[in-house]
Amino acid sequence: MPFKQLVFSGVQPTGNLHLGNYLGAITKFVALQDNYDCIYCVVDMHAITVWQEPAELTHTTREVTAAFLACGIDPKKHIIFNQSQVAEHTELTWVFNCVARLGWLNRMTQFKEKAGKDRENVSVGLFAYPNLMAADILVYRATHVPVGEDQKQHLELSRDIAQKFNNDFAKSISERGFGDAFFPLPEPIIQGPATRVMSLRDGSKKMSKSDPSDYSRINLTDDADNIAQKIRKARTDPEPLPSEEKGLETRPEAENLVGIYAALEGTTRAAVLGQFGGGQFSTFKNALVDLAVARLGPIGAEMKKLMQDPGHIDAILADGSARARVIAAQTMTAVKDIVGFVRS
Ligand code: TYM
Repeated sequence: MPFKQLVFSGVQPTGNLHLGNYLGAITKFVALQDNYDCIYCVVDMHAITVWQEPAELTHTTREVTAAFLACGIDPKKHIIFNQSQVAEHTELTWVFNCVARLGWLNRMTQFKEKAGKDRENVSVGLFAYPNLMAADILVYRATHVPVGEDQKQHLELSRDIAQKFNNDFAKSISERGFGDAFFPLPEPIIQGPATRVMSLRDGSKKMSKSDPSDYSRINLTDDADNIAQKIRKARTDPEPLPSEEKGLETRPEAENLVGIYAALEGTTRAAVLGQFGGGQFSTFKNALVDLAVARLGPIGAEMKKLMQDPGHIDAILADGSARARVIAAQTMTAVKDIVGFVRS
């Protein structure tokens, strides 16, 4: 049975949203609105897999919502909500905890990175996190998932879980009229010149909310002066920019800035090098400052404006959650029947 095309993605409300989140994910969310029904989630339950100050979590949940709105996601045509308001995410996660294999989760590189040497001391939630992520997507039977490169492995796991559920319960699924598959295998959408934006201080490290140096990232709420300072201070090598992409291969910092420029401008790395190749690095950096300020300045300003009215943001989340719940409840009813749970 063909599945209805539906986009789902999520962003954690932890720390500052940055240019990596914006270019790797949120710009894609905005673009997909024209051709798909979309559901965008502030994943507050994912956030608590590591400690969050309660008041701070409330604030950042509203701030990510404000970013979605400021970037141009339409909450009337699509759905914006926060995860904890739709209990079906956790209900389906439990079923998936019993479908996914320990060995699959043991292979997750993000868990290994986050847990580090302190494996015995991290939360069980951090380990089971990818099962919740699979449930986020599949409780809507979503078919397309825009994400940055770092989420690729989690998406593959979501597909494995969907596939194993479809296989394990094949007989029950077909007896209930769902054909040969209840869950779609969700397709990752990882495209464009900035699927992995790197730290401005170290071209071998991903730009991240948790980097202790604020100079490693550009936050969506940074003002023009901050943005300019961070780009001017961004680490580079002394060579001028090459004219061909091949010349970037051993120059991760330069490659990163060229990718950022291309993504902000909506063009390719090759086109950027065509324009700036052979010239001084400082000329390119000045142009990047202007472009970044022009693109991000209005977003940061709009976010600040929206944050002055938390009631409005909460109302959008309440409305989105109510609409999301309707879809999620239908899936859970079917899942309960497929699994064999008695329900009234
Ligand atoms: P999170 O909150 O870490 O990041 C949100 C989105 O931003 C992308 N991203 C980046 N893209 C390019 N360069 C970077 N440096 C960079 N840093 C982050 C991420 O790939 C992501 O798309 N587990 C997810 C949230 C999640 C989710 C889901 C996503 C929970 N459930 C279901 C999709 C579907 C996460 O922690 O993203």
